[in-house]
Amino acid sequence: MCGIVGYVGREECTQILVDSLRRLEYRGYDSAGIAVFEEDKIKTVKAKGKINDGLVKKLKETEHLFATAGIGHTRWATHGEPSDINSHPIGNGRVSIVHNGIIENYRELKSFLISKGYGFESETDTETVAKLLDYYYDGNPLEAISKAMNDIEGAYALGIIFREHRNKIFAIRKESPLIVGKKDGESFIASDVTAILEYTHDYYLLEHNAIAILDENGIKFCDVRGDEIQKELQTATWDASAAQKGGYKHFMLKEIHEQPTAIRNTVSPRVKDGLPDFSECGLTEEKIKSYRNIYIVGCGSAMHAGLVGKALIERLARMPVSVDIASEFRYCEPLVTKDDLVVIISQSGETADTLAALKLSKRLGADTFAIVNVVGSSIAREADMVMYTNAGPEISVCSTKAYAVQVAFMYLFAFEIAFARGKLDETRCRELTEKLLEIPDAIKKCIENEAAYQFVASKIMNADSLLYIGRGLDYSLSMEGSLKLKEISYIHSEAYAAGELKHGTISLVTKDTPVIAIATQSALFEKTASNVKEVKSRGAKVIMICAEGTEVDSSSVDYKVELPAVDELLMPLTTVVPLQMIAYYTAVLRGNDVDMPRNLAKSVTVE
Ligand code: AGP
Ligand code: GLU
Repeated sequence: MCGIVGYVGREECTQILVDSLRRLEYRGYDSAGIAVFEEDKIKTVKAKGKINDGLVKKLKETEHLFATAGIGHTRWATHGEPSDINSHPIGNGRVSIVHNGIIENYRELKSFLISKGYGFESETDTETVAKLLDYYYDGNPLEAISKAMNDIEGAYALGIIFREHRNKIFAIRKESPLIVGKKDGESFIASDVTAILEYTHDYYLLEHNAIAILDENGIKFCDVRGDEIQKELQTATWDASAAQKGGYKHFMLKEIHEQPTAIRNTVSPRVKDGLPDFSECGLTEEKIKSYRNIYIVGCGSAMHAGLVGKALIERLARMPVSVDIASEFRYCEPLVTKDDLVVIISQSGETADTLAALKLSKRLGADTFAIVNVVGSSIAREADMVMYTNAGPEISVCSTKAYAVQVAFMYLFAFEIAFARGKLDETRCRELTEKLLEIPDAIKKCIENEAAYQFVASKIMNADSLLYIGRGLDYSLSMEGSLKLKEISYIHSEAYAAGELKHGTISLVTKDTPVIAIATQSALFEKTASNVKEVKSRGAKVIMICAEGTEVDSSSVDYKVELPAVDELLMPLTTVVPLQMIAYYTAVLRGNDVDMPRNLAKSVTVE
């Protein structure tokens, strides 16, 4: 999610807000805006597009007075396409807010507020917060904030101003990041310290649901009951570039660490009363029952996520699913008909081959359902139905959290399809949905095991070529693992169905050929174990990725990477972490530009 800034002090603040927003541009965004106190009003200027193209142009067209306090925002849309009206700050003249995050119960809040006579101008979830604050506001900002936060479910970082409390900013967060900057006579809020390093290195961290109050007298903190909180001042010792990555060495590592939150933000809003809820996109039970086949189309990691989706839907819903590489699908005269559903997966929503496959599917009469990370992107606008993954901006060219949320979405989709078609009973559907909601905790544990991944990277970094092998779901993951390694370490690797090796490719295995064997599925473990013995007997160096406690033959496995034991149906969501991390640390050891690998672009908008 994107950028929040705020300033209270003695300087004219418009330029400070704009310059601070510019330092958050790296986070990716689609619109920007500011709101400042001008005389007894709140003046808002906001626009779709980049800061210089939208906001700055509008500011030049706007006559504005000397303002010394205000808030600013760069938006990464999750609810409501990028547009002037959906940009932040959002408010009604009495209250104005900037928000990073997702309000999971915004529909219920919106219905409640409409019943109280409120109208809504934007399509955003954020507007419900602004109107809820207005509803509760009766002159006491802290009381209004406390009541509103009590009603809200979801992730948020909020900068809030009230017209009647001139030159004051209130800030509160839950899940989404927000810090409070301090300088003599001036104070700031920002999504991360990058935004304010030019002005100060001193800042406070804001705990969940603690409220910061910034005014001309300085900064105070209190809890939602209004009791004052004492806080320790932090001092940033890093430069702006490091701060953009949140202290991580690379965006890729930061985005791997963001996976638990990204999955939570993608799955939780689509679970209602314990069951998958696809009502937001119009994928009704009746439609689901009517489909003869499901086609899943994408490129690269998006296609790999589709492979997991295929395995899950066929296993749970017992209906045929095919997965196609978009650049193949569009030229192979696919057998798609009006009785089929074509699922399009794309992080950017701009991949040329994937967009072309979508248009072809529509021409063939099929229903099309897009799973996209960038709101308002071309694929999102073209598809009959769209649901957004909520990974936030993915800066690193190498897809990590975007793949993770696509796979997580495939789980929810498979549960919905199977349940709607009567192949998964309600009890089991609830059980699996609950396990999916809990999986971020296991993913977090996997991420923490970095020493293991660094060790494996040290063992493979000089290899000329590697094999990734697995069966069933593990085979799908081996493809993603192989792509990660090739993409950023530039070491050749190949994903292979473990059982297929003996039909030719095993001839490549010689002394010390690294083989990464993924063996998380108990029903197939012994089979994969025997394939491991085959490669070991030909001199391979075997790294096995399996569930913790799995007994392996130490004579055939050189190193075991163990994953927290979860329902093995859900293990693809944890297995991908070592695959990402091994690729990452190998690339780092080889001194590569991890976030901008040679020859690659983040979004392939050409054929
Ligand atoms: C994966 O790490 C690559 N970045 C690439 O394969 C990517 O998944 C592919 O280009 C598809 O991009 P999209 O999801 O934006 O359509
Ligand atoms: N969910 C809000 C919106 O779509 C905030 C998005 C963000 O974090 O930038 O406007």
